[in-house]
Amino acid sequence: MLKVGLTGGIGCGKSTVAKIFADLNIPVLDADHVAHRLVEKGQPALDQIQQAFGTAILNPDGSLNRKNLRELVFSDIEQKRKLESILHPLIYQALQTELEQLNAPYCIISIPLLFETAMTHFVDRILVIDCPVETQIERVKMRDNLTVERIQSIIDNQVSRVFRKAKADDLIDNSTTDYRLAEQVKKLHNLYLSLSACRD
Ligand SMILES: Nc1ncnc2c1ncn2[C@@H]1O[C@H](COP(=O)(O)OP(=O)(O)OP(=O)(O)O)[C@@H](O)[C@H]1O
Ligand SMILES: [Mg+2]
Repeated sequence: MLKVGLTGGIGCGKSTVAKIFADLNIPVLDADHVAHRLVEKGQPALDQIQQAFGTAILNPDGSLNRKNLRELVFSDIEQKRKLESILHPLIYQALQTELEQLNAPYCIISIPLLFETAMTHFVDRILVIDCPVETQIERVKMRDNLTVERIQSIIDNQVSRVFRKAKADDLIDNSTTDYRLAEQVKKLHNLYLSLSACRD
C-alpha cells in the first residue's frame, strides 16, 4: 500500500484536506488523534508522563491536564524534548499498527511534525498543504483564540515554509477560501491510485 504523508504548518489546512480524502473513502490515519488517545486515562503513556513530570500535570480524577502540560513544555525546551521522547516513538508505533490493519490502494497519514521528527522515511510520498504564514496566523487565531505571539512562536518552532515546499512530492495550495481544495485533492487521488497500481 502506498503511504502518503500529509503535512504542513499549524493551521495550513491538514485536517480540512484529510477530510476530503476520507470522503473519497481513502483511509486517513492521524498522528494528532493517535497522540490524543495515547494519553487518555489508563494508557501506559500517561504513566510515563506522570513519572517524568509529576502529578501537577494530572487532574484530580487522574486524567491528563492538557493545559498544564502544554504550558510546562511551552516555556521549557528541555521539558518539551522530554515529552517528545516519550510520545513520538509511541505515536509512530501506533500508526504502524494501524497501517498493518488497512487494506486499500493507498492511505493518507496526517503527521504535522513529519519533518521535525525526521521521520520522512515512514512514508512513501510527501504531500504538503501550503498557505502563507499570515493566513496561518489568521486562521489559527479564529479557530483557537490564541494570541498572535503564541501562534508565531509555534510557527517558529516548526520547519519553514520554504523548507517544506522544497521537500514536497506534492503540494496543495490552500492560500485562499475559494482555492478549489476538492479539485486539487481529486487530481492527487487519481495520481495516487495510478501510482499504487504501478506498485502491484
Ligand atoms: N481554504 C480555507 N479557507 C478558509 N478557512 C480555511 C481554509 N482551509 C482551512 N480553513 C480553516 O482554517 C483553520 C485551520 O485549518 P485546519 O484545522 O484544517 O488546519 P490544520 O493544518 O489541520 O491545523 P493544525 O496544525 O492545528 O492541526 C480551520 O478553522 C479551518 O476551518
Ligand atoms: Mg489539524
